[in-house]
Amino acid sequence: MGTSDDEAKPASAARIYDYFLGGTHNFPADRAAAQTMLQVLPLVPQMARTNRAFLRRAVRYLAESGVRQFLDVGSGIPTEGNVHEIVQQVEPEARVVYVDIDPLAVAESLELLDGNPLATVVNADLRDPRSILSHPQVTALLDFDRPIGLVLGAVLHFVPDETAYDVVGRLLAAMAPGSHLLISHATADEAPHEQDEIDVAHDIYRHRTATPLGLRTRAQIERFFEGLDLVEPGVVWLPLWRPAPDDPQYFADDPTRSAGIGGVGRIPPHQDR
Ligand SMILES: C[S@@+](CC[C@H](N)C(=O)[O-])C[C@H]1O[C@@H](n2cnc3c(N)ncnc32)[C@H](O)[C@@H]1O
Repeated sequence: MGTSDDEAKPASAARIYDYFLGGTHNFPADRAAAQTMLQVLPLVPQMARTNRAFLRRAVRYLAESGVRQFLDVGSGIPTEGNVHEIVQQVEPEARVVYVDIDPLAVAESLELLDGNPLATVVNADLRDPRSILSHPQVTALLDFDRPIGLVLGAVLHFVPDETAYDVVGRLLAAMAPGSHLLISHATADEAPHEQDEIDVAHDIYRHRTATPLGLRTRAQIERFFEGLDLVEPGVVWLPLWRPAPDDPQYFADDPTRSAGIGGVGRIPPHQDR
């Protein structure tokens, strides 16, 4: 990619992540931001792939458990193993709505989904859950009286304050019992990274993108699942969540180096939230 317009674009979380995953949908500012981060955190691409592998396993688990509708917020630029590809392998009639704040992520997803009537993408902001829940494309494709898999992969750390708990609570409150919350989240808690390395990542997202980074501790990540039944093995380092033989083995010796924690929880039957 490379027009003069692209040269002037500020970096974005979606395009920096695309670069880490080896994608081509990124601009000079994204590559510069990513390269600065790689100088201090050279394992970020492996962390990103470990996150994708977790999402793959967890989404497949939900589809195999009978969840037939998915709302993937902060879905990103399409890459290998997109949610609709995984769940429609298990159940061809499964429905998926992607949501992202990044216009390029939305445009690329639209292109990929062309001709798939059971999946769509919406440009909206997680910090405004009402705009998602009332969006005509969301209400047209998803039935909120039946279980939904709410996928929040590596996005809540871009909603750094208390707002994040409120937002997740509002989305879950609109969903039926049997719905599931799937989260992966970057953390510096218990992870063997130096404070100055983490400071560089914070600086990059704060000064070069529209979405500052807010890492949370394990306890803060667990708080998102309050009131839900946690699926085994609970909220754990990403490589430890139901590992599969085809997983990348980057952090086999020390899962804390993945710097990512995730889990899946289920809205219990007939419970007021
Ligand atoms: C690191 S990527 C994660 C992509 C994918 N979910 C995954 O885990 O592989 C984070 C995505 O969240 C999106 N994002 C950040 N803040 C957001 C917000 N407030 N509302 C919606 N999307 C947001 C970014 O544009 C980006 O595409």
